[in-house]
Amino acid sequence: MNAVAKTAALPTHATADAAAPTGAGTQAPGRDPSPGLVDPATFRAVLGRFVTGVTVVTTRGPDGTVAGVTASSFNAVSMDPPLILWSLALKAPSLSVFRAARYFAVNILADDQGDVAMQFARPSENKFASLPIEVGIGGVPLIAGALAHLECEVDNRHPGGDHEIMIGRLLRTHAAEREPLVYHRGKFGQFIPA
Ligand SMILES: Cc1cc2nc3c(=O)[nH]c(=O)nc-3n(C[C@H](O)[C@H](O)[C@H](O)COP(=O)(O)O)c2cc1C
Repeated sequence: MNAVAKTAALPTHATADAAAPTGAGTQAPGRDPSPGLVDPATFRAVLGRFVTGVTVVTTRGPDGTVAGVTASSFNAVSMDPPLILWSLALKAPSLSVFRAARYFAVNILADDQGDVAMQFARPSENKFASLPIEVGIGGVPLIAGALAHLECEVDNRHPGGDHEIMIGRLLRTHAAEREPLVYHRGKFGQFIPA
């Protein structure tokens, strides 16, 4: 496992690019003066600079089918009412299960669960095999040993380009005193406080 390196302290809201000269009549070096849409490869490369935690979002459809997807798109939306979001690719095989389900759970992974993240990051008929699970609201599988569980009822689903944005109302949470798994530039690692 790769440790995420400490970064030099930057002023609040500063980025490396912020040091580039800007202002009236000045074009930062290397920047397109007439930008169009960013291409997916460039977008991925830039997104990789943003460190995230790693979750597995799990659900159970009305027919009992279970699904789980490794996702880094999780974030908070609203504090009151408590709402969260994550987004699922329209091409994901598990999309139909998530669309049919009333409940889902966000399992925030701990630093020793890199193998779990990999297990849920590729299509498989049997993702939950040999994995210790607990049973949550609506029979949704919860991954044992996770750093936190956020159990949700679907609030809404929204179109989001080639993804579907899933909004959940938080019904119940559980948080453990463990360390997080983090994701940066395609690698899993551990959090090092600055
Ligand atoms: C670190 C990491 C984060 C990911 N985040 C997302 C995500 O937020 N949304 C998404 O649709 N796929 C994401 N993926 C890819 C899915 O995990 C992958 O496509 C998976 O196969 C989907 O499950 P399914 O094939 O059972 O539908 C991520 C993969 C990794 C390794």
